[in-house]
Amino acid sequence: MMSTPVIDWELLRTRAIAASQLSYSPYSKFPVGVAGLVNDGRIVSGCNVENASYGLTLCAECSMTSELVMSGGGKLIAVVCVDKKGDLLSPCGRCRQLLFEHGGRELLLLTPDGPKSMSEILPWGFGPEDLQ
Ligand code: THU
Repeated sequence: MMSTPVIDWELLRTRAIAASQLSYSPYSKFPVGVAGLVNDGRIVSGCNVENASYGLTLCAECSMTSELVMSGGGKLIAVVCVDKKGDLLSPCGRCRQLLFEHGGRELLLLTPDGPKSMSEILPWGFGPEDLQ
């Protein structure tokens, strides 16, 4: 039986900042980093990866989601998204959908008002259950 890992928000923020330092963002010059705790205790992270066709930019959450799946999957428990200074960022609409897919309603996102669940971050979100 897997026990729920303890959430170390400071460590997640540190990992998110480290990820932002790997960002490829020559167009916006706005590095973003994100880190997430997985239900098995792993920490996955990601940075934004831009390209010359601006609209096809991959957000940091896309990169983190790829690492999540490629490193064995699992469910996200807690996520921190930051800019290069480590200030908390609000994930964009598309990325809220990614977080919801891999963390469900219980996933906690760190906001300036403390951790908030995906039920609040993406109210009445469309998810896997809606396809049943
Ligand atoms: N960005 C993210 O990486 N995640 C978000 O949730 C918001 C926006 C990136 C995309 C782009 O590279 C830069 O921030 C400016 O929009």
